[in-house]
Amino acid sequence: MSTNRTFTMIKPDAVANGHIGAIINDITAAGFKIIALKYTKLTDETAGKFYEIHKARPFYADLVSFMSSGPIVAAILEKDNAVEDFRTLIGATNPADAAEGTIRQKYAKSIDANAVHGSDSDENAAIEGDFFFTAAERF
Ligand code: CMP
Repeated sequence: MSTNRTFTMIKPDAVANGHIGAIINDITAAGFKIIALKYTKLTDETAGKFYEIHKARPFYADLVSFMSSGPIVAAILEKDNAVEDFRTLIGATNPADAAEGTIRQKYAKSIDANAVHGSDSDENAAIEGDFFFTAAERF
C-alpha cells in the first residue's frame, strides 16, 4: 500500500552551489508537504550504509566519497503518489537526460553530482526516512 511519502536529500553539490532555497521552493511549489527536514553531513561510514544497496556497483566508492564530502539536506515529503511524482519532478538520474524544468536539469552537473536523491519505491522511502529521522522529528 502506498504511504504517499518519499525521502529526498539535497546533495553536497547543490548545497555548495547555493541551491537549497530554490530546490525547496520547487518541491513545495509542486505540492509536496515537508514532514521532516534536517541539515546534516554524512560520514564515509553513514553514506556507505545509506547506499549499501549499491555496494556491488562500480560507482559505489565514488558515490560514498562524494556524499560525505559536504553537508546535505535530508527531508521526508508527503503528497499523493509521492515516490513517482517526486521522481518526475527531479528528472533522470543523469542530468544530461533530465527533462526541461526538472530539478536535475536546472541544478545538476553530472550523474555523480546530480543535486538530489529521490527514493525509488515506497519501501525504500520508509527505510531511508527512518535512516535520518526519529518519530519525534516528523510533523
Ligand atoms: P541517487 O538517486 O542518489 O542513487 C544512487 C546514485 O549513484 C545516483 O543518484 C547517482 O548520483 C550515482 N551514480 C553514479 N553513477 C551512476 C550510474 N552509472 N547509474 C546510476 N547511478 C549512478
